[in-house]
Amino acid sequence: MNDPTTIRRLYGRRSNHKLRQGQEALLERLLPAIEVPAEGPVTAESVFGHDRPLHFEIGFGSGEHLAYRADLLPDHGFIGAEPFLNGVVGALAHVRDGALANVRLHMGDALDVLERVPDGALTMVYLLHPDPWPKARHAKRRMVNDGPLDLIAAKLKPGGEFRLGTDDPTYCRWSMMVMNRRRDFEWLAESAKDFLTRPGGWPETRYEAKARRKGHEVWYFRYRRA
Ligand SMILES: C[S@@+](CC[C@H](N)C(=O)[O-])C[C@H]1O[C@@H](n2cnc3c(N)ncnc32)[C@H](O)[C@@H]1O
Repeated sequence: MNDPTTIRRLYGRRSNHKLRQGQEALLERLLPAIEVPAEGPVTAESVFGHDRPLHFEIGFGSGEHLAYRADLLPDHGFIGAEPFLNGVVGALAHVRDGALANVRLHMGDALDVLERVPDGALTMVYLLHPDPWPKARHAKRRMVNDGPLDLIAAKLKPGGEFRLGTDDPTYCRWSMMVMNRRRDFEWLAESAKDFLTRPGGWPETRYEAKARRKGHEVWYFRYRRA
């Protein structure tokens, strides 16, 4: 299958702004303390020391959604993966400022960590504003493809939830097409309002705010793992 799980390459920028001294310190001190271990199974026990519902965010950007959710659900564990250095620093600042003890981060490809999560171990998976790759010849790079979705489906427990947000009309149509032919996810929308209005407990990310300022529509998809 020719998609991101098999071509296994990270596209896009890994960093932009030079880090300030305080940010360097966050990377040096806080990241090692809350980093997902480099090897072995990734379970609630292995990363938090005990069993708890586990959430996973793919490409958390600057971490505002991850931090919001972690603050809302302090008894749950949150794992976020993001290869973009400045984003990881942003998430570290949220973790520090919110004194969030229930967040673990991986700086790199989310799929590498997801593969190490035992099947059926996740309560929720978030994929917010994935890189759109609008050109048809780049469609295989989209995270919404059967390869990554098979992995997400395997790691979610039955009844678990997959949340997907996008402001890109091509990605929106593509996602509906790909998701609608899958039997392992049930779309939790009863009317258009359900995917045109941000659901409760789903905060606006920086990327989404920017998209709204540009006049973009945003679509919110919630799927239950069958
Ligand atoms: C358009 S940004 C959206 C960021 C954030 N989710 C938000 O809504 O603000 C897409 C993000 O996905 C990240 N990304 C791309 N491929 C990824 C991968 N394989 N694993 C983890 N993150 C990835 C990019 O680095 C980028 O930060």
